[in-house]
Amino acid sequence: MKALVYNKKALPGKLTFCEIEKPIPNENEVLIKVQAVSLNAADYRSLRMGLIPKKKIFGADIAGRVESVGKNILKFKPGDEVIGDLADYGFGGLAEYALAPEKALIFKPVDLSFEDASALPMAAVTALQALRNKGCIQKGHQVLIIGSGGGVGTFAVQLAKFFGATVTAICSSDNIGLSQSLGADHVIDYTKENFLKNGKSYDLIVAVNGNYPLSACKRILNPKGIYVMVGGGFPQIFKSLLFGWLMSFGAKKIRSLAAKSNVEDLEFIVSLVNDKKIRPVIDKCFSLDKSAEAMKYLSEGHAKGKVVITVQ
Ligand SMILES: NC(=O)c1ccc[n+]([C@@H]2O[C@H](COP(=O)([O-])OP(=O)(O)OC[C@H]3O[C@@H](n4cnc5c(N)ncnc54)[C@H](OP(=O)(O)O)[C@@H]3O)[C@@H](O)[C@H]2O)c1
Repeated sequence: MKALVYNKKALPGKLTFCEIEKPIPNENEVLIKVQAVSLNAADYRSLRMGLIPKKKIFGADIAGRVESVGKNILKFKPGDEVIGDLADYGFGGLAEYALAPEKALIFKPVDLSFEDASALPMAAVTALQALRNKGCIQKGHQVLIIGSGGGVGTFAVQLAKFFGATVTAICSSDNIGLSQSLGADHVIDYTKENFLKNGKSYDLIVAVNGNYPLSACKRILNPKGIYVMVGGGFPQIFKSLLFGWLMSFGAKKIRSLAAKSNVEDLEFIVSLVNDKKIRPVIDKCFSLDKSAEAMKYLSEGHAKGKVVITVQ
């Protein structure tokens, strides 16, 4: 099969598009003919940090057709259309075929395209867990989404609206229209206005991207407000991990999210997409042989929604 494979000698990006052995499922695995795979910051950040999957193939969020199953697989059969997040199972999505355990997969609704389906797992589940699990979002909350234009941010805006919040989205000029179209009540262009100093305050801040001082973010939380660090610049992530607990004495809380792939959450997301409550935003689709270019594009940090690889 064809795949994008890590090769430390390959220039410029240590990734080679090449022919390798098609994997064979063991008794507890499903072999999937991948139709589409979406990229996440986890792919290029792992590559940069030298955290290479055992199979040497990145790509976690897959949508495809079951090709064959191991003898202990009861839920799926060849031909079924599935979606999954392989991040906890060794990645391997940037290939014509990928292996997954049954517990990583759910059925794909027939009327959802493979591209749209692949855009959902990691980004939407992360946004859901940030807002609901860590952020305890409530109807009527004032919610600030810092970094509303990317994979996680576009879902965070829509999910916060779904939960009944009033949403303020922070993005660059390029993403104002997109954030408005996703339902944001207020949109602030971070290149023109400092949202930390405009006198507004929030019940929940979800920091998806950017790099803003934690103490300043804490100041614009309402009493009992919660700040959830999802991602962004490394200094912000480390400060939140190291000092978040210390800064959480008192009523305001600083929390860090370590999202966990979870099929119940993914089912919930798919049901919202089916009911047209939320939608995936796809910035660009690349073919599998161009997936190294796609990784580079995403790693530049200004994708508008998700970057998807169409495999078949
Ligand atoms: N904690 C977890 O479990 C978890 C899980 C998944 C992802 N993450 C992290 O979440 C972050 C976002 O992931 P993603 O997949 O959404 O990334 P992404 O799609 O690459 O994000 C790109 C977006 O970031 C925005 N952005 C860049 N600089 C910004 C700034 N200074 N202020 C505000 N927005 C800015 C860009 O919008 P503009 O062009 O408008 O600037 C662009 O739309 C990453 O750091 C990732 O590692 C964490």
